[in-house]
Order: sequence, then structure tokens, then C-alpha cells
Amino acid sequence: AASDPALVERARAAKEALGDKVFVLGHHYQRDEVIQFADVTGDSFKLARDAAGRPEAEYIVFCGVHFMAESADILTGPHQKVVLPDLAAGCSMADMAVLTQVEDAWDALAEAGVQDAVVPVTYMNSSADIKAFCGRNGGVVCTSSNAEVALEWAFDQKAHLEGGGKILFFPDQHLGRNTAVLKMGYTLDDCVVWDPQKPNGGLTVEQLRDATMILWKGHCSVHGRFTPQVVDKLRATIPDIQILVHPECTHEVVLKADLVGSTEFIIKTIDAAPAGSTWAIGTELNLVKRLANAHPDKNIVFLEKNVCYCSTMNRIDLPHLVWALESLVNGIVVNQIDVDDDTERDALVALQRMLDLPG
Ligand code: 13P
Ligand code: SF4
Repeated sequence: AASDPALVERARAAKEALGDKVFVLGHHYQRDEVIQFADVTGDSFKLARDAAGRPEAEYIVFCGVHFMAESADILTGPHQKVVLPDLAAGCSMADMAVLTQVEDAWDALAEAGVQDAVVPVTYMNSSADIKAFCGRNGGVVCTSSNAEVALEWAFDQKAHLEGGGKILFFPDQHLGRNTAVLKMGYTLDDCVVWDPQKPNGGLTVEQLRDATMILWKGHCSVHGRFTPQVVDKLRATIPDIQILVHPECTHEVVLKADLVGSTEFIIKTIDAAPAGSTWAIGTELNLVKRLANAHPDKNIVFLEKNVCYCSTMNRIDLPHLVWALESLVNGIVVNQIDVDDDTERDALVALQRMLDLPG
């Protein structure tokens, strides 16, 4: 639907009044009505870097979800304030790993006698206190665009040990499995799944000792809904179709896809695709629709009709953005995301390790 012209005008006027004081970041899954006001758009890695690269902006308005705004707060200076236009914009996957549960898993690894060999790696889609846990325990943050280099870095930390190292990866089991198995040559037998709802993660001590990748039982409620059957069906009806998916999709779906990568990778792939080519894209619907509109010379379809928008990304709408911007014009900072100092210090260690990765 077209955005309300009066709200569009109010957002424009508020941004103009704020000038360089405000910098608006927009994740690729945001609605069109919001993305039109973003000073930069990106995947979660690019947005973290872009937030860190704007020390002159007093206000960072983050159009994305809570963990992204927290990361922006950690990466920006103390004089900068980060605003999330709707505090209800969380991420169900990030909520699947709670600090106390991660600490329980860590203790179980100690009891099994293997903790010294383990490097914790958290996906960006996690709360700041989980990133801080990784910072304190020799671990690193990764995103879908650098998961392979981050895992390589993590294994390198323990390369001196006999038998090598292990990784505890959270919260997204699919990104962890897809990266280890499809990009790095590990096998499904090298992976076990730690279920935080079960005693000892539902694993025996032997399983913990034998595993190379200990994957947290978390997933994305949007990407987890794409099925391998739909890929088969599309290939049977449209033989020259290419399947492009996000690595949060299940292993079975990613195995059947032609290309897999972050939202930024998906956009670059479609930008570079020849006119007349046909694509089915398995990621959030706002992005797929925007790509289809931007490339009328290419045939772009959404991988599966039954999958819907990311409801929390969609919480950020034009009325919330206008409210946040107009409040700033009036000197009122609404919905500030302010990570406490101790958490920030430790989380920054893990985020900085990610930013320092090669590539
Ligand atoms: P990207 O880092 O690829 O933008 O992914 C973020 C996300 O939340 C995907 O669901
Ligand atoms: Fe979280 Fe999935 Fe939404 Fe991404 S698409 S923000 S992982 S719920």
C-alpha cells in the first residue's frame, strides 16, 4: 500500500529539521514506507559497520530489530543515542538463547571436561548479554555474511590442542550447520544439537566430547517455514529457475538451492543477474517484493506463498518513525536503547573481533 502522504511529508520535514544530527539506518527487511527515509540500508553486518562509522551523528535511528539497535549502541560513542522506533521490534530467534541457559551449557561443557577446547560463537541475532558472554569467554560474533571466516577464526584459536577445537554456536542451528557442513567440509555427524529445554541439552557426555559443532536449538520463525518440497515443485514447473536463499533456511532447503547468502548478497546477486532470468527467493517478503519491483526485466517470485513477513521487523512503520523523529526535533529521545556499561564493554570485545576478521 502507498504510504500516507501527510506522514511522508512529516517524516521528511523532521529529518530536514534534524539535519546531520540524525542518521537513519534501515535493514533490508524494513517496509518500503520506512526504507525510503534510511540514510543507509544494509544487512546486519553492514549496518553495524555503518553505525560505528558515524561518530558525528547525535542520534542513530535504527529501523530494524532490537538486537541490531543494541549492537549499534555498543559500537557508537557515549555521546550518541540509539533509538528503536518501536520497542516491540524484537527477534524470536534472538529470544531463543537466554544468558542463564547459555551459562548452563557452558557449565555442562566444563563438567564433560571439554570446555577448554570450546569457542563460543554467537550469531548477531542475539541479545547484548549473550555477546558479552562471548567477549568474556574468548568468543566472537558473526553474521550471515561472515559466518565462515568467524568459524575459521574460532577453530584457529584452539588449533594448538590435540584433536583441535569445538564450537558452541547459538542461537541459529541452521546458520551454524549450513556454514560448517556446506562451506567448511564438516559432516552432519560432526554436529549435535543442544536443546536448552532438556537436562544436559538432551546430550550425553560422550556426544559432547565427540562433537565438533554444538548447535543451539534455535531457528528463525520466518526462514524455518520454507520447505524442500516447494523447491522441488518450482524446479519441476519452471526448469530454468534459480533458487536463492538465506542461510537461516533449513539444511534441506539450502542443500537444494543454487545460491545462499545474506540479504546484501541476495540483493547483489539479483542486481547482477541477466534480464529475463528467473529466480525464487527464500527470505523475508518485504525484501523479495522490493527486488521484484526494482527488476521488472527479471522474473522474481517468493519461494513459498505460505510464508509471511517478519512480524517484528514490520513493527517499525511510518507512524512510529514519524513519532521518533518528531520527538527528537522537540528534544525528546523516545525508545532509547542503552546497553549497561559492563555488558557493553564485554560485548564490544566480541563485536570488535568480528569487525577485525579478514575479508
Ligand atoms: P542479514 O544479516 O542477512 O541481513 O540477516 C539478518 C536477519 O535477521 C535475517 O533474518
Ligand atoms: Fe529474527 Fe527471523 Fe525476523 Fe530475522 S527474519 S529478525 S531472524 S525473526
